[in-house]
Amino acid sequence: MRVLGIESSCDETGVALFDTGQGLLAHALHSQIGLHAEYGGVVPELASRDHVRKTLPLVRAVLDEAGSKVSDINGVAYTAGPGLVGALLVGASIGRSLAWSWGVPAIGIHHMEGHLLAPMLERPAPEFPFIALLVSGGHSMLVQVEGIGAYRILGDTLDDAAGEAFDKTAKLLGLDYPGGPALAKLAEQGDPSRFRFPRPMTDRPGLDFSFSGLKTFALTTCQAHGDDPQARADIARAFQDAVVDTMVIKCRRALQQAGVGRLVVAGGVGANQALRAALSDLAGTLGAEVFYPRLEFCTDNGAMIAYAGACRLQAGQRQDLEVQVYPRWSLEELQAL
Ligand code: KG4
Ligand code: ZN
Repeated sequence: MRVLGIESSCDETGVALFDTGQGLLAHALHSQIGLHAEYGGVVPELASRDHVRKTLPLVRAVLDEAGSKVSDINGVAYTAGPGLVGALLVGASIGRSLAWSWGVPAIGIHHMEGHLLAPMLERPAPEFPFIALLVSGGHSMLVQVEGIGAYRILGDTLDDAAGEAFDKTAKLLGLDYPGGPALAKLAEQGDPSRFRFPRPMTDRPGLDFSFSGLKTFALTTCQAHGDDPQARADIARAFQDAVVDTMVIKCRRALQQAGVGRLVVAGGVGANQALRAALSDLAGTLGAEVFYPRLEFCTDNGAMIAYAGACRLQAGQRQDLEVQVYPRWSLEELQAL
Protein backbone atom coordinates (compact mmCIF):
# COMPACT_ATOMS: atom_id res chain seq x y z
CA MET A 1 0.00 0.00 0.00
CA ARG A 2 1.33 3.43 -0.98
CA VAL A 3 0.26 6.43 1.11
CA LEU A 4 0.76 10.15 0.63
CA GLY A 5 1.23 12.01 3.94
CA ILE A 6 0.64 15.72 4.52
CA GLU A 7 1.72 17.62 7.66
CA SER A 8 0.56 21.22 8.16
CA SER A 9 -0.19 21.63 11.87
CA CYS A 10 2.14 24.54 12.57
CA ASP A 11 4.97 26.26 10.70
CA GLU A 12 6.25 23.47 8.47
CA THR A 13 4.66 22.01 5.35
CA GLY A 14 5.77 18.39 5.09
CA VAL A 15 4.81 15.88 2.39
CA ALA A 16 5.99 12.28 1.98
CA LEU A 17 5.22 9.05 0.18
CA PHE A 18 5.43 5.82 2.20
CA ASP A 19 5.05 2.35 0.77
CA THR A 20 4.32 -0.52 3.17
CA GLY A 21 6.44 -2.85 1.03
CA GLN A 22 9.32 -0.56 0.06
CA GLY A 23 9.44 1.91 2.95
CA LEU A 24 9.82 5.66 2.62
CA LEU A 25 9.99 6.58 -1.08
CA ALA A 26 10.39 10.37 -0.89
CA HIS A 27 9.78 13.30 1.40
CA ALA A 28 9.95 17.09 1.16
CA LEU A 29 9.69 19.89 3.67
CA HIS A 30 9.16 23.62 3.51
CA SER A 31 9.96 25.52 6.70
CA GLN A 32 8.26 28.85 7.40
CA ILE A 33 11.01 30.04 9.77
CA GLY A 34 11.93 32.92 7.47
CA LEU A 35 8.29 34.01 7.28
CA HIS A 36 7.71 34.20 11.05
CA ALA A 37 11.21 35.24 12.20
CA GLU A 38 10.54 38.99 12.12
CA TYR A 39 7.54 38.49 14.46
CA GLY A 40 9.50 36.36 16.95
CA GLY A 41 6.96 33.52 16.77
CA VAL A 42 4.41 31.80 14.55
CA VAL A 43 1.67 34.06 13.12
CA PRO A 44 -1.24 31.62 12.54
CA GLU A 45 -2.84 33.41 9.58
CA LEU A 46 0.49 33.70 7.75
CA ALA A 47 1.13 30.02 8.47
CA SER A 48 -2.21 28.96 6.90
CA ARG A 49 -1.66 31.06 3.79
CA ASP A 50 1.82 29.68 3.28
CA HIS A 51 0.57 26.08 3.62
CA VAL A 52 -1.94 26.90 0.82
CA ARG A 53 0.92 28.01 -1.40
CA LYS A 54 3.34 25.17 -0.64
CA THR A 55 1.36 21.94 -0.24
CA LEU A 56 0.54 21.06 -3.87
CA PRO A 57 4.02 21.95 -5.22
CA LEU A 58 5.50 19.70 -2.53
CA VAL A 59 3.10 16.88 -3.47
CA ARG A 60 4.30 17.18 -7.08
CA ALA A 61 7.96 17.26 -5.98
CA VAL A 62 7.54 14.13 -3.86
CA LEU A 63 5.78 12.21 -6.65
CA ASP A 64 8.54 13.21 -9.08
CA GLU A 65 11.32 12.25 -6.66
CA ALA A 66 9.72 8.87 -6.03
CA GLY A 67 9.03 8.36 -9.75
CA SER A 68 5.50 7.53 -8.68
CA LYS A 69 2.28 8.08 -10.59
CA VAL A 70 -0.92 9.31 -8.96
CA SER A 71 -2.51 5.99 -9.93
CA ASP A 72 0.03 4.16 -7.68
CA ILE A 73 -1.29 5.94 -4.57
CA ASN A 74 -3.69 3.90 -2.42
CA GLY A 75 -4.48 6.41 0.32
CA VAL A 76 -3.90 9.88 1.73
CA ALA A 77 -3.08 10.76 5.35
CA TYR A 78 -3.08 14.28 6.78
CA THR A 79 -2.54 15.77 10.22
CA ALA A 80 -5.98 16.37 11.76
CA GLY A 81 -4.74 17.81 15.08
CA PRO A 82 -3.62 19.02 17.50
CA GLY A 83 -2.29 22.28 16.09
CA LEU A 84 -3.33 25.64 14.64
CA VAL A 85 -6.87 25.34 13.33
CA GLY A 86 -6.31 27.26 10.07
CA ALA A 87 -3.07 25.44 9.31
CA LEU A 88 -4.69 22.06 10.00
CA LEU A 89 -7.66 22.92 7.77
CA VAL A 90 -5.37 23.55 4.81
CA GLY A 91 -3.70 20.14 4.97
CA ALA A 92 -6.97 18.39 5.77
CA SER A 93 -8.88 20.05 2.89
CA ILE A 94 -6.15 19.37 0.37
CA GLY A 95 -5.58 15.81 1.60
CA ARG A 96 -9.29 15.00 1.66
CA SER A 97 -9.85 16.52 -1.79
CA LEU A 98 -6.93 14.69 -3.39
CA ALA A 99 -8.16 11.40 -1.93
CA TRP A 100 -11.67 12.05 -3.24
CA SER A 101 -10.49 12.96 -6.72
CA TRP A 102 -8.14 9.96 -6.86
CA GLY A 103 -10.85 7.61 -5.55
CA VAL A 104 -8.78 6.41 -2.58
CA PRO A 105 -9.44 6.49 1.20
CA ALA A 106 -8.21 9.27 3.47
CA ILE A 107 -7.36 9.32 7.16
CA GLY A 108 -6.75 12.14 9.67
CA ILE A 109 -3.72 11.52 11.89
CA HIS A 110 -2.90 12.76 15.40
CA HIS A 111 0.28 14.84 15.11
CA MET A 112 1.80 13.37 18.29
CA GLU A 113 1.10 9.83 17.12
CA GLY A 114 3.12 10.78 14.06
CA HIS A 115 5.99 11.94 16.27
CA LEU A 116 5.95 8.87 18.48
CA LEU A 117 5.91 6.48 15.52
CA ALA A 118 8.68 8.35 13.64
CA PRO A 119 11.43 6.01 14.99
CA MET A 120 9.59 3.19 13.16
CA LEU A 121 11.10 4.62 9.96
CA GLU A 122 14.61 3.72 11.24
CA ARG A 123 16.39 0.37 11.49
CA PRO A 124 16.32 -1.23 13.97
CA ALA A 125 12.79 -0.04 14.73
CA PRO A 126 11.55 -0.30 18.33
CA GLU A 127 9.23 -3.16 19.21
CA PHE A 128 6.16 -2.67 21.41
CA PRO A 129 5.78 -1.98 24.28
CA PHE A 130 7.88 1.13 24.80
CA ILE A 131 7.89 4.37 26.74
CA ALA A 132 7.84 7.47 24.56
CA LEU A 133 9.26 10.80 25.66
CA LEU A 134 7.48 13.29 23.40
CA VAL A 135 9.09 16.68 23.59
CA SER A 136 8.05 19.28 21.04
CA GLY A 137 7.08 22.93 20.81
CA GLY A 138 3.59 22.16 22.11
CA HIS A 139 4.03 19.03 24.25
CA SER A 140 6.15 17.36 26.93
CA MET A 141 4.76 13.93 27.64
CA LEU A 142 5.70 10.49 28.77
CA VAL A 143 3.49 7.91 27.10
CA GLN A 144 3.25 4.17 27.61
CA VAL A 145 2.82 2.65 24.16
CA GLU A 146 1.44 -0.90 23.95
CA GLY A 147 0.79 -0.80 20.21
CA ILE A 148 -0.41 1.59 17.53
CA GLY A 149 -3.21 3.64 19.07
CA ALA A 150 -2.83 2.05 22.52
CA TYR A 151 -1.43 5.00 24.42
CA ARG A 152 -1.52 5.81 28.13
CA ILE A 153 -0.25 9.23 29.16
CA LEU A 154 1.96 8.77 32.24
CA GLY A 155 3.07 12.37 32.54
CA ASP A 156 2.25 15.69 30.90
CA THR A 157 3.32 19.29 31.12
CA LEU A 158 1.55 21.47 33.66
CA ASP A 159 2.57 24.69 31.91
CA ASP A 160 5.17 25.35 29.18
CA ALA A 161 6.15 22.49 26.88
CA ALA A 162 9.87 21.69 26.65
CA GLY A 163 10.32 23.32 23.24
CA GLU A 164 8.27 26.33 24.32
CA ALA A 165 10.56 26.73 27.37
CA PHE A 166 13.61 26.53 25.08
CA ASP A 167 12.10 29.11 22.72
CA LYS A 168 11.05 31.56 25.46
CA THR A 169 14.37 31.31 27.29
CA ALA A 170 16.23 31.78 24.00
CA LYS A 171 14.17 34.89 23.31
CA LEU A 172 15.11 36.48 26.61
CA LEU A 173 18.76 35.66 25.88
CA GLY A 174 18.35 37.67 22.67
CA LEU A 175 18.38 34.69 20.29
CA ASP A 176 16.27 34.48 17.14
CA TYR A 177 13.15 32.36 16.71
CA PRO A 178 12.98 29.37 16.83
CA GLY A 179 15.29 29.53 19.79
CA GLY A 180 15.74 25.86 20.71
CA PRO A 181 18.62 25.02 18.36
CA ALA A 182 20.23 28.47 18.88
CA LEU A 183 20.13 28.08 22.67
CA ALA A 184 21.66 24.59 22.38
CA LYS A 185 24.49 26.05 20.29
CA LEU A 186 25.13 28.88 22.77
CA ALA A 187 25.12 26.37 25.66
CA GLU A 188 28.15 24.65 24.10
CA GLN A 189 30.25 27.68 25.12
CA GLY A 190 28.73 27.82 28.60
CA ASP A 191 30.44 26.95 31.87
CA PRO A 192 28.33 24.22 33.53
CA SER A 193 29.54 25.11 37.03
CA ARG A 194 28.66 28.84 37.04
CA PHE A 195 24.89 28.69 37.62
CA ARG A 196 22.67 25.91 38.86
CA PHE A 197 18.98 25.94 37.91
CA PRO A 198 16.36 23.83 39.74
CA ARG A 199 15.19 20.45 38.40
CA PRO A 200 11.42 21.14 38.54
CA MET A 201 9.10 18.56 40.12
CA THR A 202 11.81 15.94 40.61
CA ASP A 203 11.64 16.16 44.42
CA ARG A 204 8.21 14.51 44.50
CA PRO A 205 6.75 11.38 42.95
CA GLY A 206 5.02 11.56 39.58
CA LEU A 207 5.89 11.99 35.94
CA ASP A 208 4.48 15.44 35.12
CA PHE A 209 6.70 18.28 33.92
CA SER A 210 6.74 22.00 34.65
CA PHE A 211 9.24 24.18 32.82
CA SER A 212 7.86 27.71 33.15
CA GLY A 213 9.79 28.37 36.39
CA LEU A 214 13.08 27.77 34.58
CA LYS A 215 12.33 30.61 32.20
CA THR A 216 11.76 32.96 35.17
CA PHE A 217 14.97 31.68 36.75
CA ALA A 218 16.80 32.45 33.51
CA LEU A 219 15.24 35.92 33.40
CA THR A 220 16.30 36.90 36.93
CA THR A 221 19.82 35.48 36.39
CA CYS A 222 20.03 37.41 33.13
CA GLN A 223 18.93 40.66 34.79
CA ALA A 224 21.55 40.20 37.51
CA HIS A 225 24.35 39.88 34.94
CA GLY A 226 23.48 42.58 32.42
CA ASP A 227 24.87 42.03 28.92
CA ASP A 228 27.92 39.96 29.85
CA PRO A 229 28.10 37.61 26.82
CA GLN A 230 29.77 34.82 28.80
CA ALA A 231 26.95 34.98 31.37
CA ARG A 232 24.43 34.45 28.53
CA ALA A 233 26.24 31.30 27.43
CA ASP A 234 26.49 30.10 31.04
CA ILE A 235 22.74 30.70 31.53
CA ALA A 236 21.97 28.79 28.32
CA ARG A 237 24.10 25.92 29.61
CA ALA A 238 22.48 25.94 33.07
CA PHE A 239 19.01 26.00 31.51
CA GLN A 240 19.73 23.14 29.11
CA ASP A 241 21.39 21.06 31.85
CA ALA A 242 18.31 21.53 34.07
CA VAL A 243 15.88 20.49 31.30
CA VAL A 244 18.00 17.49 30.28
CA ASP A 245 18.53 16.33 33.88
CA THR A 246 14.82 16.63 34.63
CA MET A 247 13.93 14.54 31.59
CA VAL A 248 16.51 11.89 32.46
CA ILE A 249 15.11 11.60 36.01
CA LYS A 250 11.53 11.28 34.71
CA CYS A 251 12.46 8.81 31.97
CA ARG A 252 14.26 6.61 34.50
CA ARG A 253 11.18 6.69 36.73
CA ALA A 254 8.81 5.90 33.86
CA LEU A 255 10.88 2.94 32.61
CA GLN A 256 11.23 1.51 36.11
CA GLN A 257 7.58 2.04 37.09
CA ALA A 258 6.30 0.47 33.86
CA GLY A 259 8.91 -2.30 33.87
CA VAL A 260 9.65 -1.53 30.22
CA GLY A 261 13.13 -1.72 28.67
CA ARG A 262 12.63 0.43 25.58
CA LEU A 263 12.57 4.23 25.35
CA VAL A 264 11.59 6.23 22.28
CA VAL A 265 12.48 9.92 22.12
CA ALA A 266 10.63 12.07 19.59
CA GLY A 267 9.54 15.61 18.81
CA GLY A 268 11.64 18.69 18.02
CA VAL A 269 13.52 18.79 21.33
CA GLY A 270 14.53 15.18 20.64
CA ALA A 271 17.01 16.71 18.16
CA ASN A 272 18.93 18.17 21.13
CA GLN A 273 22.33 16.46 21.25
CA ALA A 274 22.84 16.93 25.00
CA LEU A 275 19.48 15.26 25.66
CA ARG A 276 20.28 12.39 23.29
CA ALA A 277 23.67 11.80 24.93
CA ALA A 278 22.20 11.85 28.45
CA LEU A 279 19.35 9.48 27.56
CA SER A 280 21.75 7.08 25.83
CA ASP A 281 23.81 7.07 29.08
CA LEU A 282 20.65 6.41 31.08
CA ALA A 283 19.73 3.50 28.81
CA GLY A 284 23.25 2.13 29.28
CA THR A 285 23.00 2.17 33.07
CA LEU A 286 19.51 0.60 33.03
CA GLY A 287 20.35 -1.99 30.38
CA ALA A 288 17.53 -0.49 28.30
CA GLU A 289 17.41 0.41 24.60
CA VAL A 290 16.77 3.92 23.31
CA PHE A 291 15.43 4.80 19.85
CA TYR A 292 15.40 8.16 18.06
CA PRO A 293 14.17 9.26 14.67
CA ARG A 294 16.88 10.68 12.37
CA LEU A 295 17.38 14.38 13.19
CA GLU A 296 15.22 15.71 10.35
CA PHE A 297 12.30 13.52 11.50
CA CYS A 298 12.47 14.78 15.12
CA THR A 299 10.94 18.07 14.03
CA ASP A 300 7.72 18.22 12.01
CA ASN A 301 7.71 16.28 8.75
CA GLY A 302 5.40 14.49 6.33
CA ALA A 303 7.09 11.09 6.65
CA MET A 304 5.74 10.42 10.15
CA ILE A 305 2.20 11.25 8.99
CA ALA A 306 2.50 9.04 5.89
CA TYR A 307 3.77 6.18 8.08
CA ALA A 308 1.04 6.50 10.75
CA GLY A 309 -1.55 6.84 7.97
CA ALA A 310 -0.32 3.73 6.18
CA CYS A 311 -0.64 1.71 9.43
CA ARG A 312 -4.19 2.89 10.02
CA LEU A 313 -5.39 2.67 6.41
CA GLN A 314 -3.90 -0.81 6.09
CA ALA A 315 -5.91 -1.81 9.18
CA GLY A 316 -9.06 -0.63 7.38
CA GLN A 317 -9.62 2.71 9.13
CA ARG A 318 -11.10 5.45 6.98
CA GLN A 319 -12.37 9.01 7.24
CA ASP A 320 -15.68 9.93 5.66
CA LEU A 321 -15.98 12.85 3.24
CA GLU A 322 -16.30 15.49 5.94
CA VAL A 323 -13.18 17.60 6.57
CA GLN A 324 -12.67 17.50 10.34
CA VAL A 325 -9.78 18.89 12.38
CA TYR A 326 -9.17 18.83 16.13
CA PRO A 327 -6.98 21.70 17.41
CA ARG A 328 -7.09 20.05 20.87
CA TRP A 329 -7.04 16.29 20.88
CA SER A 330 -5.71 13.78 23.44
CA LEU A 331 -3.61 10.81 22.34
CA GLU A 332 -5.71 8.66 24.67
CA GLU A 333 -8.81 9.21 22.50
CA LEU A 334 -7.29 7.36 19.55
CA GLN A 335 -8.59 4.03 18.37
CA ALA A 336 -6.17 1.16 18.94
CA LEU A 337 -5.36 -1.05 15.96
O1 KG4 B 1 8.12 18.86 16.90
P1 KG4 B 1 8.35 20.25 16.49
O2 KG4 B 1 9.04 20.49 15.17
O3 KG4 B 1 7.03 21.07 16.41
C1 KG4 B 1 5.97 20.86 17.28
O4 KG4 B 1 5.21 19.88 17.09
O5 KG4 B 1 5.89 21.67 18.22
O6 KG4 B 1 9.18 20.94 17.66
C2 KG4 B 1 9.64 22.25 17.57
C3 KG4 B 1 10.34 22.62 18.87
C4 KG4 B 1 10.69 24.09 18.95
O7 KG4 B 1 10.29 24.59 20.20
C5 KG4 B 1 12.21 24.09 18.80
O8 KG4 B 1 12.84 25.18 19.44
C6 KG4 B 1 12.58 22.78 19.44
O9 KG4 B 1 11.57 21.89 19.03
N1 KG4 B 1 13.90 22.30 19.03
C7 KG4 B 1 14.96 22.16 19.87
C8 KG4 B 1 16.05 21.70 19.07
N2 KG4 B 1 15.61 21.57 17.78
C9 KG4 B 1 14.30 21.94 17.78
N3 KG4 B 1 15.07 22.39 21.19
C10 KG4 B 1 16.27 22.15 21.75
N4 KG4 B 1 17.36 21.72 21.07
C11 KG4 B 1 17.30 21.49 19.74
N5 KG4 B 1 18.38 21.06 19.07
ZN1 ZN C 1 5.51 18.44 16.04
